[in-house]
Amino acid sequence: MCGIFGYTGKRDDAGSVVIDGLKNLEYRGYDSWGVACREEKGILVAKDIGKISAVESREFGHTCCLALAHTRWATHGGVTPANAHPHLSRDRTIAVAHNGIIENHEALRKELMQKGYVFLSQTDSEVIPHCIEEEMCAGYPFAEAVRRACLRFHGRYAILAMHEPTGMLVGARTGSPLIVGVGDDGYYVASDIPAFLEHTRTVQYIDDGETVETDGASIVFRDIATGQERQKREVRITWTVEQAQKGEFPHFMLKEIMDQKESIARAVNQDEDAIRRVAEAIRSAKGTFLVGCGTAHKACMAAEYFFSVVSEHHVNVCSAGEFKLYHHFLAPESLLIVVSQSGETADVLEAMNIAKSKGSKVLAIVNVEGSSISRAADYTLLINAGPERAVASTKGLTGQMSVLLLIAYALKHALHEGKTLLLETGALINDMLNPRYVDRISAIASRIKSHEDLYIIGKSWHYPMALESAIKIQEVSYVHAEGFAGGELKHGPIALIEQGTPCIALVGNDEVTADIINNATELKARGALVIGIAPERHAIFDEWLKTPDAAAAQPIVSIIPMQILAYELAVQRGKDPDMPRNLAKSVTVK
Ligand code: F6R
Repeated sequence: MCGIFGYTGKRDDAGSVVIDGLKNLEYRGYDSWGVACREEKGILVAKDIGKISAVESREFGHTCCLALAHTRWATHGGVTPANAHPHLSRDRTIAVAHNGIIENHEALRKELMQKGYVFLSQTDSEVIPHCIEEEMCAGYPFAEAVRRACLRFHGRYAILAMHEPTGMLVGARTGSPLIVGVGDDGYYVASDIPAFLEHTRTVQYIDDGETVETDGASIVFRDIATGQERQKREVRITWTVEQAQKGEFPHFMLKEIMDQKESIARAVNQDEDAIRRVAEAIRSAKGTFLVGCGTAHKACMAAEYFFSVVSEHHVNVCSAGEFKLYHHFLAPESLLIVVSQSGETADVLEAMNIAKSKGSKVLAIVNVEGSSISRAADYTLLINAGPERAVASTKGLTGQMSVLLLIAYALKHALHEGKTLLLETGALINDMLNPRYVDRISAIASRIKSHEDLYIIGKSWHYPMALESAIKIQEVSYVHAEGFAGGELKHGPIALIEQGTPCIALVGNDEVTADIINNATELKARGALVIGIAPERHAIFDEWLKTPDAAAAQPIVSIIPMQILAYELAVQRGKDPDMPRNLAKSVTVK
């Protein structure tokens, strides 16, 4: 979940390069930051708690060609300057930034302490520079010492280490992302592409179980287990610098909500033969399982209704973190479809491993090209939403749902019908997302912002959207929001409703409209303030937010005003919607 960025090459402002680049990865973790620069006097380290966005990069590394930096999302040890990375070796010649968990750190720490190593932090990460130093003391050169040290670590991690005497930068990856940017002026090694996007769009992917070593002029990849050299090809990526910036918007979250004017059309622009092949694989599979985490899981839940309503085909849906015991249902003829924006989520990767161990095929629906999930899958469909920087997923979700709905239509042998519907939906969303609409939502937010409890109900595909609305509101505004299937209310939660409790009903024009209106009426009878998100006004609504009528694509439309409401609640309650407390965008630990 932490962010790592290192640079070595011809530039002499490496310190500011890595700090500025890491500001683009702050979504990965933002409780503390740190930088190590190779200066004339040795390695200079600066680190502190707080956000890297507040750090003035010009203060660092103006005469250095090698530097690495880190943003932390604390797992082991509290949020303190001492626990911030980079960590140094005993002789201060090696600096290390780390993402992930060294599971056997306690045993290693004990062993190293017995040998006289002193620990200055409570992190699992600090064992890394000491282990590398130990290997060097045994006579191995730096890059080989990093590789040998990695053989001692258990767990999923990415490491970036620099060595002052040789000027080498060495990375290693087992389970957490690390990507090389190949520039005309040197090599950039980072957890994610936006860190170096303004310097280069040419990348080389480090695979799990590999190291990368560079002196700034050349680069070598190796297998961690054997030390054998691995050849890599250069890949040109399609994301642009502009896509990764917030432009005129005050927050990435709002920018990404507005991006949905175009991102649906990009998601739908798939190779038709590929979609038909995926549909055929679902048709012939003995059991199709859809898994994801958080918001992506809600996309899977919505897809269960798409497959039922559109193509009358049964699929199984499960949160990736709960998939472990499903292995009894898996066979070589089963199909696992994993859904993930980042393509790095640890629970999803684990679900893939479970399926692979049973010989099942894996299809990935992801946003980030070249991500761990897309490279581990047998086949990948990209949703092409462009970089999603806000922690709260918005355009990622609607892109995922669009691709899944398209597949449902292909399964019905009606791919073009589905494509037309989704392209029309994209146009409807474009019309809907005008300033007056946002103002209207802002007014509703200001009416309910002082309430600490908020309930959202939906039926059919609006049920997962009610759950998703609750996630969005919880994570950015810290209001206690809960989503329910409309029919569940009277089985318990209705006891929570008091005079004036805001309740939102997600309503479509479909076979469950009358049912959900009845559920809203039950809430109103207990004093709730009923806010309807619907194509038509119903008498029961105290407030009505009109949505376009989009048939089977209705949940894709209905979630957008809820995303704006979550954003508005956050801003009006004085919270930063781009960086919710305790969260990080890429959840690379289980
Ligand atoms: C909520 C949110 C998370 C992610 C979840 C999975 O707004 O963004 O719930 O959806 O962490 O992440 P990905 O899609 O990257 O696998």
